Amino acid sequence: MDFVKGGTVDEFEEKSHKVIKLLGRPVGIIRRDDGSFFAVEASCKHQGADILADYRGGSIAVCPRHQWEYDLESGRCVNHQSLPLKRYRIRIEGDDIMVSLRPMENETPVDYDYDRLK
Ligand code: FES
Repeated sequence: MDFVKGGTVDEFEEKSHKVIKLLGRPVGIIRRDDGSFFAVEASCKHQGADILADYRGGSIAVCPRHQWEYDLESGRCVNHQSLPLKRYRIRIEGDDIMVSLRPMENETPVDYDYDRLK
């Protein structure tokens, strides 16, 4: 699996997240309270707005455009029926934060109830 550098651990001393572009798609790198990191698609499943525009930390991000709410760790939208946000693997190499080019959902089947969308 291919990883690319998304930033450095030092960058996150003053902030909880940043948005990078992975193959043209916005992806948020987010620092948990315990100092570990995860990465998740940053564009809303409704109309593509930046779901991290008003994000100030915590497990939930609210899209500023129409207030769809996402659980960032799972990628699930918690107040609308929607496909989940894609999640990306993180690997720390020294001070570098490496992000997988392919989302986890392309590696293994997603634990998601697609029947809910019918
Ligand atoms: S674009 Fe995000 S809720 Fe509409």
